[in-house]
Amino acid sequence: MQVPFLNLAAQYESLKTELLPAVEKVLAGAHYILGPNVTAFEQEVAAYTGARFGIGVNSGSDALTLALRALEIGPGDEVITTPFTYIAPAESIHQMGAKVVFADVDPRTFLIDPVDVARKITPRTRAIIPVHLFGQAAPLAALNALAEPHGIQIVEDCAQAIGATLDGQPAGGIGRLGCFSFYPTKNLGADGDGGMIVTNDEALAKRLKMLRVHGIERRYFHDLHGFNSRLDEIQAAILRVKLPHLNSWNARRAAIAKRYSEGFAGLPLDLPVTAPGNSHVFHVYAFLSDRRDELQQFLADRGVPTIIYYPRPLHLQTVYADLGYREGDFPVAEAVSRRILPLPMYPELTDEQVDYVVAKVREFFLK
Ligand SMILES: Cc1ncc(COP(=O)(O)O)c(C=O)c1O
Repeated sequence: MQVPFLNLAAQYESLKTELLPAVEKVLAGAHYILGPNVTAFEQEVAAYTGARFGIGVNSGSDALTLALRALEIGPGDEVITTPFTYIAPAESIHQMGAKVVFADVDPRTFLIDPVDVARKITPRTRAIIPVHLFGQAAPLAALNALAEPHGIQIVEDCAQAIGATLDGQPAGGIGRLGCFSFYPTKNLGADGDGGMIVTNDEALAKRLKMLRVHGIERRYFHDLHGFNSRLDEIQAAILRVKLPHLNSWNARRAAIAKRYSEGFAGLPLDLPVTAPGNSHVFHVYAFLSDRRDELQQFLADRGVPTIIYYPRPLHLQTVYADLGYREGDFPVAEAVSRRILPLPMYPELTDEQVDYVVAKVREFFLK
């Protein structure tokens, strides 16, 4: 049996009859930039996340960058984030000319650890970007308790966690700003790039709408240093077809995760842990193993290719050499990078495929 690591074509096949007319309607309507689908999708995502405003942008990376710009973060400021994630949040901080400050992660959830965040706060700290990694929310209550007394802003990176909740509240609508990615592999993926920022703050929403179109409120009158970063109208139309399916896709992901974890019972693995209060949407299902590399090869040889997220924590990446971090500075993130193995995870996986992966992992340990 072959179990592809991802299978985006399967989702397209299941939605083809809805997607093609939606795209055709945009093409025929000829309102290609910031048209009615972007406006409607912004309202739909805002409602879904319990926030008042949604601002569609070109990508999740731009969502973070524009969010920091809207908060007027710049040179001399520090922003704390996690070293165990995709590079985008750190990159957005660097793009503002602010200093990237890392805090280590929890060994079981891989989410940013508020105890280490507390150690990293200085009078220059302006914001924290917790990443809702792999589909569950970072510990926002603890982070907020640290941040609020100092006027530090929380910018949620929800790229991997649309639909996740924390104590019943949807991810994204809890912090000052919530940033989403609709990169094709995300739980809600466009057929191209896309992103969104949600917020309850009307003034920030207004500024973000200006920032995404070169800082204008009135055409050709530029009041802010802006960007060209708009959610594409065709992608918005596609995403509007997909959004109503998101909850059932997320439920299927959770069911697959449960099937994996039950199948792996008794094996020498650290299985994924859901933090109390979280509902997890399993963008990624990953466990830790001391024999990760051997197991990865064993699975690949048996039709189960896998990809390691993340093989090198951000503080050890070449681009951040000037920050002066060394190996050993974030021991948890480093150990997780060495031991983590993400498995195939998407709603279209069949139970037979999941059972095959389970059987091969069991065979590796019990052979
Ligand atoms: C945690 C995280 N933040 C930000 C991003 C950036 O999103 P995009 O690829 O849409 O720019 C990604 C993924 O791509 C991500 O995984």
